[in-house]
Formats: sequence, C-alpha cells, structure tokens
Amino acid sequence: MSEPSLPEHIAIVMDGNGRWAEKRKRPRTMGHQAGVRALRKTVEHAIKRGIQTLTVFAFSSENWKRPESEVRRLMDLFMRALDKEVEALRDNGVQLHFIGDRSAFKKSLRESMDQAEALTREASAMTLNVAVNYGGRWDITRAARAIARSVMAGRIKPGDVDEDMMSTMMATGDCKDPDLFIRTGGEIRVSNFLLWQSAYSELYFTPVLWPDFGAGELDAAIEVYQQRERRFGLTGQQLKGARHA
Ligand code: IPE
Ligand code: IPE
Ligand code: MG
Repeated sequence: MSEPSLPEHIAIVMDGNGRWAEKRKRPRTMGHQAGVRALRKTVEHAIKRGIQTLTVFAFSSENWKRPESEVRRLMDLFMRALDKEVEALRDNGVQLHFIGDRSAFKKSLRESMDQAEALTREASAMTLNVAVNYGGRWDITRAARAIARSVMAGRIKPGDVDEDMMSTMMATGDCKDPDLFIRTGGEIRVSNFLLWQSAYSELYFTPVLWPDFGAGELDAAIEVYQQRERRFGLTGQQLKGARHA
C-alpha cells in the first residue's frame, strides 16, 4: 500500500481562546495570549510534518463588533507577537503573509506586517498565511471588483472570467486550495473563512479549545484526513479503478 498523502495546505479556525480563559476564571485576553503559544507550537509541528502551507484565522471582519477593550488588547497582542516571533519564524524557514483588509489597522501595525513579510520573503520551508480582518465574502467581493476593473479597462472580456482566474485573484493567491480545514473550539461552522477556497476541503471539527491545540492534535487531524476518501464528484468505484491503473 502506498503512503497516505499528506495535506499540502491546512487551514485552521483558531477558536476557543475566550472560553479557555473563562474556564480558568481569567480575562479573555489571557486566552488570546495562550492562543499565540498554541500557534507557535502548531507552526513548528507543521514544518516538522512537511506541510507546505498553513492558513490561520486570527481575526475576522466580524470580530470588530467585540467590546472595544478586547479588540484593543488583540491588536496590542498582534503587534507584540509579530515583533517577538518574526525572526524565529524566518530562521525556521517560514514565509509570512497577511491576508485580509489591512486598511482598517493603524499605521504602526500595517508597517510591522509589511516588515515581517519583507523579512521572511526568502524563507521556503513553509508558507504561513495569517488572516486578519479577513472575511470570505470580502475576499470574493474584492476579486470580483478587481476583475470588473480589468473588464472596464478592456484588458479582459467577461467571457475570459473563469474559476482559475477567480482563484488567483483571491487573497491566498497562488496557494493551492486547503486540503484540510480544521476548526477548534467545538462550533460546527465556517464563520466566513476561505469560502471560495474551501469548496473541496476536508472539514475537521474538534472540541479542543485553541490554546490546548498542538502537535498531538495536529497529528490527529492529519490522521483523520488520511482516512478520508476524496472523491471530487467521482464514484468510489472510479477512484479504485484509478488507483489500480
Ligand atoms: C478565537 O477565540 C480568537 C478570536 C476570534 C480573535 P475566541 O475569542 O472566539 O474564543 P471563544 O469562542 O469566545 O471561546
Ligand atoms: C472565528 O471565530 C474567527 C476566528 C477564529 C478568528 P469567532 O469566535 O469569531 O466565530 P463565531 O462568532 O463564533 O462564529
Ligand atoms: Mg469564538
């Protein structure tokens, strides 16, 4: 039997920080701090496993609706985590990208993001996309707007617009679509993450709260993924035929 294939691209909705802290009677921010540590462990293990791309949901376009103090603390935490982690990420071969509408962030944070991307540009062990102020509908709308502009400018015709073009216009750009889509924290929903890109992702939901996630949990998700049969519309019989051909 051949080796089960590894997901090339894993997407994670890192949910459950607040509940993790509340369970310990601590402020929600403590949960977000613990969430940064969980992300570090997960990134390190993903590199070790040979994952090519990891895309994590850190802040959604809807999360602005949270209490102002929580939003402010989250922004401070992003800033500090970026400053603290970026060199280690580069040394571990991680190429960092931020996906989402950055225009809403203050200048210092936008500059830190630009610098982190520049600093890790040559890294090639793994791509880490961090989704901040991201929404799947925003992503699709933005692609549609860019395409509309190209049509208006006469660079392309409406008939040229196809799924491949849409895919390359998405914020994840030339990354392959996620093979495995993980959500921690027990909710069974996608909450506006990677709507276009997850069309054929294998979905994996775990009750584990994000701060408790790490190497073992990532391995467990990959193992479940490897037991799935990805049919992409074919019949199981057809797949067996293709495997034996
Ligand atoms: C996810 O954890 C992190 C962000 C959305 C920023 P939550 O803060 O949503 O944690 P719960 O869902 O309230 O436990
Ligand atoms: C999704 O989590 C966004 C992130 C993990 C960043 P939420 O906690 O915001 O999602 P809902 O509100 O429960 O759907
Ligand atoms: Mg949540």
